[in-house]
Amino acid sequence: MKNNNVRVVTDRIPLQHDGDGSDLFNYLHMAKPGDIIEAQQFSRQWQENELFPTAQKMETIVAKRGSMDLAGKKMITFFYEPSTRTRASFEIAMDMLGGRVIFSTENAADFSSLAKGEDIRDTILVLNRYRPDVIVLRSKTEGDAKRAAEISLAPIFNAGDGVGQHPTQAMLDVYTIKKKFGRIDGISIAMAGDLAKGRTVRSLAYLLGKYSDVTIHLVSPEELKMRDDIKDYLRRHNVFFYETNDLRQVAPFVDVIYQTRPQKERGTEAYPLISDSGYFAINPQIAGMMKQHSIIMHPLPRNEEIEREVDKDQRAVYLTDQIDSGLAVRMALLQMYLGK
Ligand code: NCD
Repeated sequence: MKNNNVRVVTDRIPLQHDGDGSDLFNYLHMAKPGDIIEAQQFSRQWQENELFPTAQKMETIVAKRGSMDLAGKKMITFFYEPSTRTRASFEIAMDMLGGRVIFSTENAADFSSLAKGEDIRDTILVLNRYRPDVIVLRSKTEGDAKRAAEISLAPIFNAGDGVGQHPTQAMLDVYTIKKKFGRIDGISIAMAGDLAKGRTVRSLAYLLGKYSDVTIHLVSPEELKMRDDIKDYLRRHNVFFYETNDLRQVAPFVDVIYQTRPQKERGTEAYPLISDSGYFAINPQIAGMMKQHSIIMHPLPRNEEIEREVDKDQRAVYLTDQIDSGLAVRMALLQMYLGK
């Protein structure tokens, strides 16, 4: 077991892969390295002392065009929802470290047995028999990653579970912030858009709640406000948060604007980005109000909520630094969980 902080759920039995037939027996004698299910699993110390330094090392490995540290390790990426960056960066991360992707789905909801009515738990049990060292799972239903982890022998990495969480996205987001500002304590951030159904902001709030003196402005239409579980968590962790429906009120003061798109596939109706009932667009006007040393983030995909003209602003990091952080952080996670 690599690290106490990254273990959750129960002691389970990992797969022995060079099996000679005795591997099922061996499972019983080894502890599973751990799952990545929800952001609140991860302490500030773990982020600062383990994740960030390892991610930094991974950036040098990327610059050297890879390593063979995870040679022989195998990953399955099983996605019930579309993805570009999360799946690509996990698969490329594994490749960069010399491991292999032994099975990968584009859209398991259509192309796997789920389409025929299979329970996700059956799918996970079956995937385990192909001896993966990790299963990266994206699903449509909140709680699926946890349910999968309860029965999976291989660690489950939650790559998004419906309206639940997206912990590895939040890790790359905090890493991006840390790299830009040299710290996370004292940061002031506006999270804008569909806060009710977007999972990236939920996980990010959980991670930011581990730091001191963080201020979060929640900028959303009335019907898409952040859910109470997160607000309760922020209160318990003494994070100052404010709710508003006008990005113009906060743009001049924050270090980060973290924009999100309407989650149409989860029932969110498109809302006007600029109207009497709220101002949610990032356009040159908003960028013009922001501090010189601030950044504009977005987990992507972007719809109309950030105007294309903003892309060339040097404070926009969603098509650049956030993508690089995604690769480095996912490499770091694979290295920490699967490496020697
Ligand atoms: C996000 C997701 O899937 O939750 N995208 C991502 O993984 N980078 C954001 C979104 O879909 O809006």
